[in-house]
Amino acid sequence: MDAYTTIISLRAVRHFADRPVPDEVVMRILEAGRWTGSSKNTQPWRFIVVRDRETRERLAGCGRYASHLKDAALAIVLVTEPGGRADFDAGRCAQNLMLAAWAHGVGSCIASMHREDAAKAILGVPPEHHVPLVISFGYPSAEPETTIEGQPREQVLAAIGRRPLRDLVHWERW
Ligand SMILES: Cc1cc2nc3c(=O)[nH]c(=O)nc-3n(C[C@H](O)[C@H](O)[C@H](O)COP(=O)(O)O)c2cc1C
Repeated sequence: MDAYTTIISLRAVRHFADRPVPDEVVMRILEAGRWTGSSKNTQPWRFIVVRDRETRERLAGCGRYASHLKDAALAIVLVTEPGGRADFDAGRCAQNLMLAAWAHGVGSCIASMHREDAAKAILGVPPEHHVPLVISFGYPSAEPETTIEGQPREQVLAAIGRRPLRDLVHWERW
């Protein structure tokens, strides 16, 4: 896949095949995260790679829509330092991790940590750091994905697909 195709074909994958992701692919994903640009090059992130199923199951209990963590091959926890523009930087970093994975055929989905303190306790993250989200990674299941947490996708999400450019783009002025 060329870079453009990788970008526009990236979709959330919440159902995974029972197949491990090789270590070399995991390292490529992490490298892509490491090279993300950030505000003043602060690089306000750390990664916790979680392959252990029990830990992923416990993390799944820390988000309202985080069940996909259970069946993933692995999870990468994005730990951020406080201050600056860490939220924006972390978003860019997450996208790079996910795009690098997709370039290797590995699907992914974000899990928001609504119970962040519980997630930090499970992982032993220092109090001053944040755990806004965890990302599931794995090869996509062959079955089409129609549900989220057992509910039809269209009931959970604001929309399926994307708004057309004509609704998004202004030229020169609003
Ligand atoms: C900040 C952020 C938080 C998200 N949190 C969750 C989540 O907790 N659980 C989940 O299943 N998907 C989560 N998602 C994934 C979105 O639902 C997904 O990106 C969106 O529905 C578009 O999906 P698509 O690319 O398959 O069309 C999150 C995405 C973002 C950017």
